[in-house]
Amino acid sequence: MKVPTHLAIIMDGNGRWAQLHGRERTFGHLRGARIAKSVIEHCAELGVKHLTLYAFSTENWLRPKTEVAFLMRLLARHMRKERESLVANNIRFTTIGDLARLPEAVQAEVRKTKAATARNDGMHLVFALSYGSRQELTAAARRLAEDVAAGRLTPEDITEDAVRARLETSETPDPDLIIRTSGECRLSNFLMWQAAYSELYVAKTLWPDFTLQELEHAFLSFADRERRFGRTHAQLAPAIAPLETASASLGGLDADLEAEFEIDACDEDCNEPKAAFRGDSIPQTAP
Ligand code: FPP
Repeated sequence: MKVPTHLAIIMDGNGRWAQLHGRERTFGHLRGARIAKSVIEHCAELGVKHLTLYAFSTENWLRPKTEVAFLMRLLARHMRKERESLVANNIRFTTIGDLARLPEAVQAEVRKTKAATARNDGMHLVFALSYGSRQELTAAARRLAEDVAAGRLTPEDITEDAVRARLETSETPDPDLIIRTSGECRLSNFLMWQAAYSELYVAKTLWPDFTLQELEHAFLSFADRERRFGRTHAQLAPAIAPLETASASLGGLDADLEAEFEIDACDEDCNEPKAAFRGDSIPQTAP
């Protein structure tokens, strides 16, 4: 099975799942942690190289104190309970996010788990903890400004690579696939720079009901997609048969469109031959 090199997951719907079952929201988090464990192990078995789980966002600090406290205890316990099995499964554990905001007891468990797994060379597991993409990008911008102010960089040195190097994920490739559960179609401040060309897969299932079959379904869907990174289908696979031309008429739009097309194609700034311009300009697939 073709699996993504880097899979990232927004594990959403714990609270709703618990409420549907007549339980308090925290019960959903507890079950969510169990699902996370089985997904982590299955990804390692299938050969995923990097797995990032959105375990606690910057905005999650705004939740009721009791829920935040429960999540912190759950994280500490999960770290403690799973440390040995991470080692046994050759998984290397790291985090992104502002760890300093976590209670000291959680920080200590996180440190121990990182140290215990540091030499593993199997799957790389990343927990996003107290993580927010805007905060990460703001910190990167601040570091760049400091480097310029100190004369270590000039404004011209601020390239995409320079920004990327100052992100917390600088050692990890961008996610190939991002799964979000519970049917919500948004990134919620998760890996926004890194997700520029990630494939998105939204599952209606609430996270505590997410199954390994659904995970594999997401991988099958991912394997079926053509990732063009801004290029055209023909550039990527010149040997593959061209996409079928739509035979339906464009109706009243035709005349206007052709007129505008002629004007653009004759623009003196256009340095491409007219025929190439024409061919490239007709969208053949959805963007
Ligand atoms: C979203 O569900 C989930 C979270 C805010 C935290 C994710 C945490 C876990 C899955 C448990 C801890 C994980 C590990 C690996 C120890 P939600 O509460 O926003 O659900 P809702 O949208 O239904 O309210």
